[in-house]
Amino acid sequence: MAEVRVKSIVKRYGSHLALDNVDLEIAEGEVLGLLGPNGAGKTTLIHAVSGIIGFDSGEINVFGREQKSNLLEIKRQMGVVTQEIAVFHDLTAKENLQFFGGIYGLKGQELKERIEKTLEFVGLSQYANKLPTTFSGGMKRRLNIACAIVHRPKLLIMDEPTVGIDPQSRNHILETIRQLNEQGTTIIYSTHYMEEVQNFASRVVIMDLGYVIAEGTMNDLVKKIQHEEKIKIEVADPAEDLLQKLRRVDGVKQVSLTGREILIISQVGAGNLDRVLSIAKASGEIHSFYTEKPTLEDVFLTLTGKQLRDVGRK
Ligand SMILES: Nc1ncnc2c1ncn2[C@@H]1O[C@H](COP(=O)(O)OP(=O)(O)O)[C@@H](O)[C@H]1O
Ligand SMILES: [Mg+2]
Repeated sequence: MAEVRVKSIVKRYGSHLALDNVDLEIAEGEVLGLLGPNGAGKTTLIHAVSGIIGFDSGEINVFGREQKSNLLEIKRQMGVVTQEIAVFHDLTAKENLQFFGGIYGLKGQELKERIEKTLEFVGLSQYANKLPTTFSGGMKRRLNIACAIVHRPKLLIMDEPTVGIDPQSRNHILETIRQLNEQGTTIIYSTHYMEEVQNFASRVVIMDLGYVIAEGTMNDLVKKIQHEEKIKIEVADPAEDLLQKLRRVDGVKQVSLTGREILIISQVGAGNLDRVLSIAKASGEIHSFYTEKPTLEDVFLTLTGKQLRDVGRK
């Protein structure tokens, strides 16, 4: 059964169409990577699914129930980590968890145990009685995540939780997410960092301008553009004559030079690679040679004509 099913969601801000007939399904136990540049509609979609905002038309089902009319019940089993860190700065880490645990109906011994376990899980046990104002950005984010998981939600939705924090905290957070998923939590995870999605999402949805432009497993997505191949050759003497010869090979679309490294983008086809290699060899010594599989970045570039890295930064 789908844990979340989004059907033809439309959300307008005035005349601006932020979500344009978005469809989405997340199965129980999945980690869904929601990928897209700033302005794609990731936050809007996450807010709609978690009931933070309403939407103009379409339908959302969570845990098999219609979302609008079962929102309170659904929220009890859902944790949301918003893009902006939302913790109380005048409460200690422990008091923050007491507050959020209380909202979800935890009390007494159970609440106490959950707070201890959760602080330990996010690596903040030693800081239980400290105010978040004394925390680094990464620690604040970890507390923020703790607030969203203290009640052990079945579904955890996170909106770009690793933006702007140190690499160590980032790794810690990614490891936390992996462990939660291993324990059975379904996760929706939005980001514009492809490496993160590539490494642990079981399925990826790519959005741009309010649309879902592609979805599937990493393999599915890469297959979509597998008619192209990247070949990199480092040669002793990258003369213009050699580049010209390579450009004339059937199926070669692009040849460019960075330092001594020649990048060739070619159609995957019988013999292209061999021909390129023998031309390069004939020109002299080859220092290195390798081909690259397409990445999510390439998928995005092929589908939208835009570089995700560039448009993903404010
Ligand atoms: N409250 C709002 N009022 C008006 N426009 C908004 C509002 N929130 C988001 N938008 C617009 O909707 C689009 C999608 O935004 P958002 O969902 O935040 O994208 P993302 O999270 O992928 O960066 C953007 O063009 C943004 O400017
Ligand atoms: Mg956003």
